[in-house]
Amino acid sequence: MSEQDNHSPQEPPQTPPQTPYEILGDQGIKDLVKAFYEVMDTDPEAAEIRAMHAEDLAPVRSKLVSYLVGWMGGPPVYLAVTGTVCLTDPHAAYHIGPRQRDQWLMCMDKALERIGASEALKNMLRIPMQQVAETVRNQDESEPAPKDPNIIAVGR
Ligand code: HEM
Repeated sequence: MSEQDNHSPQEPPQTPPQTPYEILGDQGIKDLVKAFYEVMDTDPEAAEIRAMHAEDLAPVRSKLVSYLVGWMGGPPVYLAVTGTVCLTDPHAAYHIGPRQRDQWLMCMDKALERIGASEALKNMLRIPMQQVAETVRNQDESEPAPKDPNIIAVGR
């Protein structure tokens, strides 16, 4: 009797499913985030969200690395420092509508290309990245409401 005729249960897959963290590792996530902010810093299509960020991108770069390490299935380093993985408060000061969200996602797509991410990894991340960016969106409209011309000292 051949192997095919034998009705034994299927063998488990040789390689178990991997998390994005297992695929990229700490160094891969650092490379991804470095590429992400390089795109944000230089691509004219991301100029609007670049302008929301501080001149020095080093602090947010290191925060996004620690966030993504945990989010991608690695140790929860951002949670350990901040006590939460909720991104609402850190983004509350910024006007993030659909256009700003899509600029952020565009930077991430280009960063994944730059680091040579596999199609499998890109497919694995596409929907969850869209979902997390959508949770950061805090406005329905991309255009900020016009500011009251009678107010002299206006904030952001
Ligand atoms: C959707 C569009 C988004 C925009 C426009 C945006 C913009 C910003 C800005 C302006 C800051 C402050 C940076 C600074 O002070 O220099 C920030 C911080 C941060 N962003 Fe975003 N962000 C977006 C989405 C996301 C997403 C999807 C994630 C995670 C996957 C993320 C993770 C972070 C983290 C971890 C910080 C630092 C928070 C902290 O201070 O602990 N952001 N973001």
